[in-house]
Amino acid sequence: MSDGALTLSYSPASPFARLVRLAVAELGLEARLQVATVAVSPGSSDADYVARINPLGRIPALTLADGSVLVDSHVIVEFLDDLAGGHRLIPAADGSTRRHQVLSDHALAQGGMEAAVALRYETVLRPEELRWSVWSDDQWAKVARTLDWFEARTAVLATPRAAGPVDVCQLALLALLGYLDFRFADRPWRDGRPQLAAWAATAMARPSYAATAPA
Ligand code: BEZ
Repeated sequence: MSDGALTLSYSPASPFARLVRLAVAELGLEARLQVATVAVSPGSSDADYVARINPLGRIPALTLADGSVLVDSHVIVEFLDDLAGGHRLIPAADGSTRRHQVLSDHALAQGGMEAAVALRYETVLRPEELRWSVWSDDQWAKVARTLDWFEARTAVLATPRAAGPVDVCQLALLALLGYLDFRFADRPWRDGRPQLAAWAATAMARPSYAATAPA
């Protein structure tokens, strides 16, 4: 496993990068991490970043001490979990479906992030005359249904399913909810979702949450 410094290419506003930063904090790996801010937005890619780090122009990416690069927030979180000893965020395979259920729930929270970021781009970056309200409404509907899904399954939230105090699904959900508070304060997601709101109130009190606040 990799020794030495790790460099996270990120944007302070990105919920995907926040998921990785939450994982770093929860795993106690802060001393190993350096950060490099990258400006990513449709139509204005950072030429050096897409040439050297990620041809897709997406963040986050993690550059390892040997210069090799890992992309995709989930891949990076899995790497960090292994680096910290393994299975604190992502359960080990145990012959049951537990690991895959956590990964599946995590994929839903990730999908919620993708829809929220797409909606943000649509409403802020796309010229007004090119906007398509059907598409925008659909992105928000994806977010809302994902939140409803978790609201109806608070067992997923009640207890971490990996060995640490929070699992990767819970961190992804925190990153999503934090992004909604940051970018969509005019769409109060807590309304009508008391279980999710109560869970978030506790989870957002974790030091890792304050330490990774978006900017
Ligand atoms: C944002 O500004 O909302 C944002 C920036 C980078 C990635 C995703 C979202």
